[in-house]
Amino acid sequence: MAISLNLLPRCLVLLHFVLCSLGAKVVTIDVREANNLIQTGHIYLDVRTVQEFVKGPRVNTSKIINIPYMLDTPKGKVKNLYFLKECSSLCNIEDHLVVGCQFGLRSLHATSDLLDGGFKNVKNMDGGFAEWVSKMLPITNNSQVRP
Ligand SMILES: *[C@@H]1O[C@H](CO)[C@@H](O)[C@H](O)[C@H]1NC(C)=O
Ligand SMILES: *[C@@H]1O[C@H](CO)[C@@H](O)[C@H](O)[C@H]1NC(C)=O
Repeated sequence: MAISLNLLPRCLVLLHFVLCSLGAKVVTIDVREANNLIQTGHIYLDVRTVQEFVKGPRVNTSKIINIPYMLDTPKGKVKNLYFLKECSSLCNIEDHLVVGCQFGLRSLHATSDLLDGGFKNVKNMDGGFAEWVSKMLPITNNSQVRP
């Protein structure tokens, strides 16, 4: 076929621009699929605050890690600047993770940051723990602290 080869570099430049401006693509799954993945060995990364994690109910799985994406401070909620660093110290970039928060917003940003940080198998759970509860998926109150 007579496709002009000299157009190719321009296409690649355009593609590169589009991909970089979007960042890595976040895959979002619903709570049922998240539950299936957790049952088959995915780690559940709860990015709510430590207070939310410890005081209230949470997803019932033994493979759960709490690393807050936002922190409560006297000045209000601020982003946890060490989020990626803490994830990298507790998880391997190859680990299969499902990321959840309370309503699904923090986890979306957290998942995006993790992908940008080189994590390869990360999925965002839509609707957060609130949605998990509304679908009556397994919860527990064991206040397991951070590993
Ligand atoms: C959490 O899951 C474990 C293992 O499946 C089960 O034994 C336990 O009863 C569950 N806890 C609650 C509160 O449902
Ligand atoms: C967890 O604790 C809360 C508040 O005490 C309670 O409303 C809820 O029913 C408890 N859930 C479970 C699974 O024990």
